[in-house]
Amino acid sequence: MDDTEHGLNDLVIPFYGGGDRRMFAIERRAMDRDGRVVEFLDGALPRARVLDVGAGDGYTAELLTRNGRTVVAMEPDGRMIDRSKDLAWVRGVAQELPFHDDSFAAAYATWAYFLPGTVDDHIALGVRELERVVADGGPIVIVDNAGGDAMTALSDRPIFDDGSRWRRLGFDVSVIETSFRFDSVEEARELLGFYFGAEKAADIDATEIGFRVAAYVGRSGRLTTGD
Ligand SMILES: C[S@@+](CC[C@H](N)C(=O)[O-])C[C@H]1O[C@@H](n2cnc3c(N)ncnc32)[C@H](O)[C@@H]1O
Repeated sequence: MDDTEHGLNDLVIPFYGGGDRRMFAIERRAMDRDGRVVEFLDGALPRARVLDVGAGDGYTAELLTRNGRTVVAMEPDGRMIDRSKDLAWVRGVAQELPFHDDSFAAAYATWAYFLPGTVDDHIALGVRELERVVADGGPIVIVDNAGGDAMTALSDRPIFDDGSRWRRLGFDVSVIETSFRFDSVEEARELLGFYFGAEKAADIDATEIGFRVAAYVGRSGRLTTGD
């Protein structure tokens, strides 16, 4: 079956990673190199069956699969899926999760679908889907840029949420202080130039760029999505 038959194309937010594996490899290696986001998720998620929404190449899901925790990696873009990773892969989108009610003990998404550019109605739709598939009281964690750091300051457009809409939905907000740490200044300029333009990247002369990450944590059945 191709994407048209799945009906996924209209629902997938385009991401460069499937078409540019080399650049995505730099991003995944440099971003949060000290593993603070994975450490946070490891503490927030139960050692049970957990869903990763928009899992990308399965980087985070693989690291969280340990000590009795199984992670189902759901990803709509077939080019992102890395079957060399020993994960349960499922094709699907956040708007219409292909799972039965109460199938998971918890769920999370890292920089996927629940993004600053996603309108409130679509965020609410995705959160309702998460509440449907996560058993009552189970944690739901959304990870995104927090802003107020050197990384997001390079952007001319807003690439972070101020957290207010997540608080309104009933999520608590935690900020994780981390960084992008590159192998060289050239590598930093390459990725950040790709994100923000060559002019911005030309001013970079460090291998480490400060990065603040927001983790929005809610509980299934306790959120306010308007339904
Ligand atoms: C920025 S990448 C993040 C990947 C991964 N979570 C990570 O942290 O490395 C965003 C991912 O979301 C996926 N995506 C796009 N539209 C989606 C949707 N509607 N529902 C779920 N995932 C989606 C993309 O295909 C891409 O793999």
